[in-house]
Formats: sequence, C-alpha cells, structure tokens
Amino acid sequence: MSAKSAHEDDLSQETTRFRCNDALYFAFRTCGESQTLQPVGRVYTDSSRTFTLDDLSVLSVLEYATSPRTRSELLDFVEHEFSVSSETAETTLETLVSGDFLLPADDPIFRRRSEWMERTWRRALYYHVATRDIDYIDDTPDDRYESRETALDSYRNENSPPDLFGDFEKSTLVPLGEPDALPQRSLESVLLERRTVRNYSGESMTESELSTLLAHTFAPVADVREYIAKNLDDDPTLHLLSAQYPFDVFVIVGRHETLEPGVYRYAMREHALTIVEPLADPVEVDGLLDEISHQPYSRNSAITVLFTQNIDRERWAYRHDNSLRNLYVKIAGHAQRLILAGVSMEFGAFQTPALDDPVVDALVDVDGFTNPASYLVTLGK
Ligand SMILES: Cc1cc2nc3c(=O)[nH]c(=O)nc-3n(C[C@H](O)[C@H](O)[C@H](O)COP(=O)(O)O)c2cc1C
Repeated sequence: MSAKSAHEDDLSQETTRFRCNDALYFAFRTCGESQTLQPVGRVYTDSSRTFTLDDLSVLSVLEYATSPRTRSELLDFVEHEFSVSSETAETTLETLVSGDFLLPADDPIFRRRSEWMERTWRRALYYHVATRDIDYIDDTPDDRYESRETALDSYRNENSPPDLFGDFEKSTLVPLGEPDALPQRSLESVLLERRTVRNYSGESMTESELSTLLAHTFAPVADVREYIAKNLDDDPTLHLLSAQYPFDVFVIVGRHETLEPGVYRYAMREHALTIVEPLADPVEVDGLLDEISHQPYSRNSAITVLFTQNIDRERWAYRHDNSLRNLYVKIAGHAQRLILAGVSMEFGAFQTPALDDPVVDALVDVDGFTNPASYLVTLGK
C-alpha cells in the first residue's frame, strides 16, 4: 500500500478520530501461475482501490476502529495487539490511513454514502464506484483506430469471438412469413400516443402482425449482423459493432391467430420462431407472466417479448466491467423500438425489467449466469 491518501495529514492531528471505512470488502483472488489464493482488500471512497494483504491480523485493527479512535488509541492498540515497537505501529497506522482503510470519522463520505447503505444499495454502490474510473484502450486521438484494431486482434488470438446470431441449426423453425410495411404514421404521433398499457382485451395477434412487429424491430440488427459476418476478416473493429447487440430474443405467445401458446426463441436471420416450451393455453401463459413479473399487467395480452442478455458478446469486445451498464442501455434502446413499432400498429405495451430472475430464466431455459432475461415487453390490444 503506497498510494497517497488525502488523509495522511490528519494523522498529525492528535484530536482527529479515525473510523474504519464502511465500504470495504475482503476476498481471495487467484494470482500467479500457481493459481494460489491471495487475500485482497478492496477499498471504496470516490474511487476504488485493491490492495493485497500480507497479514490478515490487520483486520483486528479495523474491527477496533469500528468505533472512532484517536491516533494514540490506535497506536496503543497496534503496539499491544501485535507486540511491536512504536515505530512499527506508526507505519501500520500510516499504511491503513494512506490506503483509506481508516478515514477521519467526520469525513463527509460517511454521510454521502449512508443512503446507499441504509436503502440496501451497498452492492450497487460498490459497482457504481468501481466502474467510474476506466482505462480507455483507445485514448489516443492519433491512432485510435489502430489501438482498437490491435486490442481486438489480440482478443481474437486468445479465443474465438461469440457467435453473432445464435445457433439454430438443429432447431425446427416456424417461418413468420412476409412482414407488411408499418402504417404510415409520423414518429411524433407515435411518440405522443405511447402510454404504458396494463389492461388488455384478450384479442389475438394475427400472423402478419407478429411478423411485421418483429421484422421492423429487429431488421436493423439483422442487417448489421449480416454486414459484420461478411466483413469481419477485413476489419476486426467490427467486433465492437457486434457488441452493440448483446442480446437474444424470446417470444412468449399467449394469444395468436395460428401459433400455439408457448415460449419461443426468435431466429433473427431466418425471421422465424422455434419452440422452447409449449404451454397449455392462454390462461397458463397469463399465470406464468404474473409469476415472472410479480405484477398482473400482462394478463390478456397477445404476446410478450423477452430480451435476454448475451453477456459474452459485450464482455468479449469490451474488457471492463463498466460495460455491463452499456449492455443494459443498449437492450433498452432496442426494446423501445419494439414498443414504438407496436404503438404504430395500435398495440399497447407494458414494459418492465423488474423480473423474478430464477423464475424467468427457468421459463425461457437460459443460463442466468451468462444469458439472463432482463427486459420484458408485453404487447396486445
Ligand atoms: C425501465 C422501465 C421499467 C418499468 N417498470 C414498470 C413496472 O415494473 N411496473 C409498472 O407498472 N410499470 C413499469 N414501467 C412503466 C412506468 O411506470 C411508466 O413508463 C411511467 O409511469 C410513465 O408512464 P407512460 O409509460 O404511460 O408514459 C416501467 C417503465 C420503464 C421505462
């Protein structure tokens, strides 16, 4: 621990009381070729830093400082607890303060963070803070393109990139048929008309309506994916473009002119569906939608589209966990196009990402670790 802390000068003030930083966590990390586990402490202030810990006995000092302590109290504690000289105790204390393990008890950060803690947003705070300071691989105006190309080439040499479309080779596909054009309406009128709808009539969606809705929502995605597939060898930076679509699409059919109720997966390239799980009838579908959202608002709707995250696609191209935020935003953007296409066809839409993760992941049969379902859009009249 050598990084300079804003609080080292406070150590010279005899009256300053120090308190253990309340945003710390300890973990074991694999390190080196031997893959041994090394204890580390991650410390959060306005940013986050990780320190390897050579000696876990330091935890007893932090525990002692869960109540505010003066410098001399802390020095006494360290000297007696570890039977060390006063110089060694001083060094230990300086190290803990410079690493922000100990902070002045009146540091405003305790107050600024308290609402995160009290409202059980602690883990969100850790993620938020830890992903605020990222290293840009292409932060070099003169050769931005080259630095991206080099990085992506090296990723490609390590392991192959995730597939672009998903594998439907062994699936039985039900073609959705030719889509119609979207009704000629101004974007302004569609935007102004859109409202969240929580009450549906039970009317079924027709074949051409479902085809039109999915085709117009996802055609831009399918087109770009095709372009990437064709040109990737010439331009590895297209991997960054492929990571703009870090999702897959499932359709839960409740009421449709010809399709049986069930969970289907959408094959974008083929513009077709493949059955994942047949369901008995629209009433069973309504019950399952209640269970996955814990809300009754999808009842009597026609279909529900579920966006599942394709974390691998995002993570392969973007090597910083900050990108999980991008992934959420990207999915929301595509979901919004679905909603607006639906509104232009006079469907109402209800949307929520507040899903019961294990239940929804089991329903669509995805691995919640790498392909969790994250956004639900229900459509109906
Ligand atoms: C990301 C997101 C999540 C939402 N989650 C819910 C939800 O869980 N339950 C609900 O009833 N409405 C939900 N809504 C709908 C909002 O409550 C609604 O958009 C807001 O009240 C504004 O109304 P409007 O959509 O009719 O303009 C959500 C909307 C968005 C954009």
